[in-house]
Amino acid sequence: MTHLSHAPEELQALLDAAVDAIILIDHRGTIRSLNRSAELLFGYDAPEAVGRNISLFMPTDQAALHDGYLQRYVATRAPNVIGTGRDVTAQRKDGSQFPARLSVGLVPDSEPPRFVGFVHDLTQRREIEEDGRRTAGRLAQVARFAALGEMAAGIAHELNQPLSAIATYAQACDRMLGAPAPDMPEIRDALRQVTAQALRAGEIIRKLRHLVGNRETERTDSDINAVVEELITLAGTDLRHHHATLDFELTPALAAVSIDRVQVQQVLLNLLRNAMEALNGATDTEREIVIGTRAVDDDEVEVYVRDRGHGVPTDVAERMFDPFFTTKRSGTGLGLAISKTIARAHRGTLGHRSHALSGTEFFLRLPTLEKSSTP
Ligand SMILES: Nc1ncnc2c1ncn2[C@@H]1O[C@H](COP(=O)(O)OP(=O)(O)O)[C@@H](O)[C@H]1O
Ligand SMILES: [Mg+2]
Repeated sequence: MTHLSHAPEELQALLDAAVDAIILIDHRGTIRSLNRSAELLFGYDAPEAVGRNISLFMPTDQAALHDGYLQRYVATRAPNVIGTGRDVTAQRKDGSQFPARLSVGLVPDSEPPRFVGFVHDLTQRREIEEDGRRTAGRLAQVARFAALGEMAAGIAHELNQPLSAIATYAQACDRMLGAPAPDMPEIRDALRQVTAQALRAGEIIRKLRHLVGNRETERTDSDINAVVEELITLAGTDLRHHHATLDFELTPALAAVSIDRVQVQQVLLNLLRNAMEALNGATDTEREIVIGTRAVDDDEVEVYVRDRGHGVPTDVAERMFDPFFTTKRSGTGLGLAISKTIARAHRGTLGHRSHALSGTEFFLRLPTLEKSSTP
């Protein structure tokens, strides 16, 4: 240590080899000696610094504080920074400042007391921390954009069907009205379909808004059977389009569930649509899709959707709940991913199993009211 009188050469070498700045001061805060790292860190040669006040190494506001600490210690001997250390702002000869960790030790048996200060430059650590924060922020942003991208693709996919149905029915009306003797009941029927499809599109948008906005969903205490029964209107067009029929197996008097009906219906519609889309090449009897409800234990009810389509191979089963995973030429791979999110938001589960006949059975389990209202 430079200017440390009586220090053996090895000790000096040791101190000079230390990465941290080491500074010895007396009870008045006068610098008595400093090591090589201190010289480098603060930009002073030892002869320049020795004999001056330690405030030399600090911005003015901290220097005053430091004087106070020292005086208080000398007067009361109550350890403050001694032995613990604190984060400070340090100042170089050129006026530039840097964050540092200061720990102070008392020189044993020194009277008046002398102190050894260890100054550890925190610049690099702070940079790493800041870098970490920036990276985390960037990742969060990426995730948000990814979610937005998913939503956009989801909206496009979900809205495409009702919109093209509306266009088809409107064209049909136009054509029928052009006929010499328009078939009014048929035209009215088509117009009702236009209304139904427009409502469906509206519901999809509402549901997506819920997901995007990520706010509290609209939970109502519901009879799951009533929620399921409404699907016949919502899925009617799709079913006709796929030449499929829907059979209900509803267990009466199930416990109520607290759900966002639109979201849960969206899940069930996704499952129904997947069931229909799995019917490629299926026979007429196989085109019967079953939707049912039942109690699972005391505290859950389940809605299941069973099809007799091509089934789910193991490699598909492993990935089908992942966003964007699809085996369909024009699939988005979002139906099951969004459905799983909705299930989880309801503290429920979404799963699938094989059943006696070939094909697949998906199920959505929801906690019943008694369970979901107890914490
Ligand atoms: N009922 C089902 N039968 C067979 N395979 C299914 C069924 N439901 C889903 N899958 C598989 O899971 C994949 C992902 O489904 P989904 O997330 O709804 O996206 P998408 O329907 O756009 O492909 C489908 O592409 C299909 O391979
Ligand atoms: Mg799907």
